[in-house]
Amino acid sequence: ASTASPARIVEHKFYVQNLTVNKLCNTQIITAVNGRLPGPTIRVQEGDTLLVHVFNKSPYNLSIHWHGVFQRLSGWADGPSMITQCPIRPGCKYIYKFTIIDQEGTLWWHAHVSFLRATVYGALIIRPRGGHSYPFPMPYKEVPILLGEWWNTNVFDVEKLAVATGAAPNLSIAYTINGWPGDLYPCSENQMYKLKLLQGRTYLLRIINAALNHELFFKIANHKLTVVSIDARYTQPYVTNVVVTAPGQTVDVLLTADQPVGSYYMAATAYASADGVLFDNTTTRGVLAYDGAPSSTTPLMPVLPDFNDTPTAHKFYSNLTGLVGGPHWEPVPLKVDHEMLVTIGLGLEPCPANTSCKGPKLSASMNNVSFVRPTSLSMLQAFFFNVNGVYTTDFPIKPTIEFDYTNASINNNIPMLFAPKGTKVTKVKFNSTVEIIFQNTAILGVENHPMHLHGFDFHVLAQGFGNYNLAIDRKKHNFINPQMRNTIAVPAGGWAVTRFTANNPGVWVLHCHLDMHLPLGLATAFVVENGPTPETTLPPPPVDLPQC
Ligand code: C2O
Repeated sequence: ASTASPARIVEHKFYVQNLTVNKLCNTQIITAVNGRLPGPTIRVQEGDTLLVHVFNKSPYNLSIHWHGVFQRLSGWADGPSMITQCPIRPGCKYIYKFTIIDQEGTLWWHAHVSFLRATVYGALIIRPRGGHSYPFPMPYKEVPILLGEWWNTNVFDVEKLAVATGAAPNLSIAYTINGWPGDLYPCSENQMYKLKLLQGRTYLLRIINAALNHELFFKIANHKLTVVSIDARYTQPYVTNVVVTAPGQTVDVLLTADQPVGSYYMAATAYASADGVLFDNTTTRGVLAYDGAPSSTTPLMPVLPDFNDTPTAHKFYSNLTGLVGGPHWEPVPLKVDHEMLVTIGLGLEPCPANTSCKGPKLSASMNNVSFVRPTSLSMLQAFFFNVNGVYTTDFPIKPTIEFDYTNASINNNIPMLFAPKGTKVTKVKFNSTVEIIFQNTAILGVENHPMHLHGFDFHVLAQGFGNYNLAIDRKKHNFINPQMRNTIAVPAGGWAVTRFTANNPGVWVLHCHLDMHLPLGLATAFVVENGPTPETTLPPPPVDLPQC
């Protein structure tokens, strides 16, 4: 062991404001941080304390979430609107202060209100603290690759319309790499991400799926990729020629420039897990140009998987394993205090009176509860100040009826089609262990749901298709070297088993990271009680915590 380097403070100023951009044949005003798209990359070492001053100079209510950061005893900085804080009002500011402990790798930050994260997002890169190294050879260079999604209209209006009418959101018109759509889109010939490579060198690509509503395949022509980390958790090195990521997930890959000097496209396109699911069938691409490659050569294009290539996606997702004994590896908790079986899926709800909405509109639920965010006080304030009436602790830990969840159709007259609304949470004791078996439903359409847990990583013990079967599927659980993640893409028409230890007091939301599904109600939260000591108790809120 080497001597620990002193903890450092890393400070950033985020000015969230209007920015006029010209993209995809359209000039529009978007909301962006410090006039950049994506926003600033935050680089820290494990152990550092971050101070991010967020100045809201936009016309919208705003909050920022540090996706995947544990926020030990700093739940006030987690960021989801109305869960851990009231939003920062236009013209106001808030300082997010937190220390990065026990995690390293690629995470990111994004706005946590409405669809605003379409343009308010950036990378958060955590390197090992001084004197420590990666559990793989030191790369020559590290490169963030942020995959995004683009609309030609105001994203607030896109969400508002989708939620009000209950229709699917207008499809985005493009995917992007580091903000650039790439030359397959109109007016975008020169809007392409380019990376120079030196032959023989190895690069670490930190890939982030910041798209709002789509899983993405990512591939580079003629090059193999070695996965070394996902969601800021080291993996057993895994060699592949294609990567798949769900919104919220990150994948770090080593790329060796071992091909003839030349130019190669990197490309990303949708993985839509089921036929008939609305998806953006376009492709974004950027160029990797070896040093010395003549600029006149046409780059080689990778052959991308078909949009519905579930075998390829499932192979990638399920073959990843954790790096046992590596930095920050945690063994699987073997004793389970709370066992939950949680259905996740879409349904319907009646239109509110006096609106333009016709017929029942789209809704979503977990265990027959469609989540509603409180409006008067954040849930974390209610937790800390013991305020009743903001949430109830009666989230059902099992579905309310036994059912063949993956064979349902809209014609079946079952109660789950219209799930009642509520702000229901699961209350657990400090340091207790939770197992969640996610069961995807097909009550209304089949879709993959990337389930993201704030505040914790979970071990992914198993995943599969059909209904989870206690007798058969239990035997498939991996207790030895399962992958760890903060976002699990629960397969369409399938299930996934996860476990985590609730070692952080506060309120932690668990939700689908498809941005359309959160306002529809595909969410719940864990309230983790304080532990017995000051070191296990949530401190009072910072004085500048925004009020409602
Ligand atoms: Cu990255 Cu609650 O989200």
